[in-house]
Amino acid sequence: MCGIVGYVGARHAAPVLLDGLSRLEYRGYDSAGIAVVGAEGRFSLVRRKGRVAALESARALAGNCGIGHTRWATHGAPSERNAHPHRYQNVCLVHNGILENAASLKEACLARGERFSSDTDSEVAVHLIARFLQEEGELLRAVARATALLSGSYAFAVLCEGREEIVCARRRSPLLVAAGEGEAFAASDAAAFPGAGRRAYALEDGEFARLTRAGVEVFDAHLQRAERAFFPLPEEGASSQKGAFRHFMRKEIAEVPMAAQRSLSAARKMANSQLCEVLCQTKYLHIVACGTAYHSGLCMKVAAESLARVPTEVFLASEYRYADPIVPAGGLTIAVSQSGETADTLAAAELAKERGSTLLALTNVEHSSLSRLADVCLFTRAGQEIAVAATKSFSAQLAALYALVVRLAEARGRGAPRLRNVAALCRAAIGAGEGTRAWAPSFTGARSVFFLGRGADRCAALEGSLKLKEVSYLPGEGYAAGELKHGTLALVDEGTPVVALVCDRALADKTMNAVHEVYARGAPVFLVTPFAELARAKEVRGSVLLPACAPVFSPLVSVIPLQLLAYHVAVAMGRDPDKPRNLAKSVTVE
Ligand code: G6P
Repeated sequence: MCGIVGYVGARHAAPVLLDGLSRLEYRGYDSAGIAVVGAEGRFSLVRRKGRVAALESARALAGNCGIGHTRWATHGAPSERNAHPHRYQNVCLVHNGILENAASLKEACLARGERFSSDTDSEVAVHLIARFLQEEGELLRAVARATALLSGSYAFAVLCEGREEIVCARRRSPLLVAAGEGEAFAASDAAAFPGAGRRAYALEDGEFARLTRAGVEVFDAHLQRAERAFFPLPEEGASSQKGAFRHFMRKEIAEVPMAAQRSLSAARKMANSQLCEVLCQTKYLHIVACGTAYHSGLCMKVAAESLARVPTEVFLASEYRYADPIVPAGGLTIAVSQSGETADTLAAAELAKERGSTLLALTNVEHSSLSRLADVCLFTRAGQEIAVAATKSFSAQLAALYALVVRLAEARGRGAPRLRNVAALCRAAIGAGEGTRAWAPSFTGARSVFFLGRGADRCAALEGSLKLKEVSYLPGEGYAAGELKHGTLALVDEGTPVVALVCDRALADKTMNAVHEVYARGAPVFLVTPFAELARAKEVRGSVLLPACAPVFSPLVSVIPLQLLAYHVAVAMGRDPDKPRNLAKSVTVE
């Protein structure tokens, strides 16, 4: 949700910033901008509506110190005037977050006769900093005084004219600072500046940093110099390149087998250590998450309750944080988040911890805010995921969560099906799922699309529906197959394709009843199932035959054709599946 970058060093800043921004574009892509301090100490500023590519003309800007931003609009429409950096007098700033008291602060600035040139909440911060800079004469002190007046969330990188330094501040929005040979960087995410030899530190809430050619200085909330341990930044991996694929989404679906297998192995190792103690003693499981990660939590609930008989509740983090939740003693809360930075998930996790729960983080990013908050971490090994719609990270979460369930069941003396040949199963599901490309014409003109299932199939249906909505913009719903007749069936006709999931033989007849009901109302029906005879039913217009898998773990394979369906429909409709409108991959604001 907005990506920010900063660079100071021997190289020209503009190309470094543009490169960093293009790697952070998954965080938002409605407008972008950079500001560079030139040799004579003055700012050059370029801002554009649209994607980072629209900033190409800024590549030639001269100057060794600069900041940049790629935006996902919160306050103020996507436009050039609302694009960052925002400038006031001799100060310039980029911001990720939401300033909740911006309106009242802005009124006070207006009363002082100051003029604003955007509709953003961020601009007020640059006004405050410029005013305090006049009084303090030092950018770091000015930023600290301004942030003391702000409520809400922020990651700032701030420049002032005449100086080769960047001051950073953070509260509840991610911000990394990094030092290389004679240069320093700031970024929302380590992905912006991969590179051997660079070392990074993730600022904690209330901390500040000053970046110069000499490196990075970190300051605590009282502006005292703080010695912090820096970690090596990973080198650029294959994850950041599309390779032979047309889109990251399709490439990342191809990486599902690897992501699931590696995450399963990582979880199995962890399940024999510290985590095991916490896990095996727990009487209740709570899961907090958003979006796709919430769906992986739902899948875990089905498995944990049926195999380990551990009562499990799954909460939308955005609801949990304001719901005064009951946190049972002796319980474990699992916060699931690919990025480890989702604002609602972080707030829910913090609340669960405050209320006495042990907190386990399941995340794909090692130095994320969530992993720093948690008592125990389990890392999925999906590699960087760039397409906004989560695919391989979902499979990685499922594999890890299912490994925990197996361990939990064993600790309770209960049997559980073996999770074997996961990579091969996923590969087979990709092979079969490619057939959904032929379904696309039945979906492109659809008024609405329903995904039906029971039990674990219902959880996969919810995720399939979310995927299709995200990348094709077709309205739809994932639905409990038996519930359709209690209202939603009224929506079903020839214009509403239905995808039914039937992975559990014990529930097959029941879900097929729903298939008959929607078919009778004219809906084109598509089936995802390992049972060949069901696929041959006259009602079924198209089918994907899945490899056989224990029904309780079936979302691991059944979601894959749904991901592919969403991809093919989006491409057939001319959408960009990697960057759907209005969305961002990492939602660091409420
Ligand atoms: C955004 C993304 C989704 C993701 C959700 C939760 O909405 O577009 O793909 O599932 O955030 O993200 P997290 O990083 O917490 O898993």
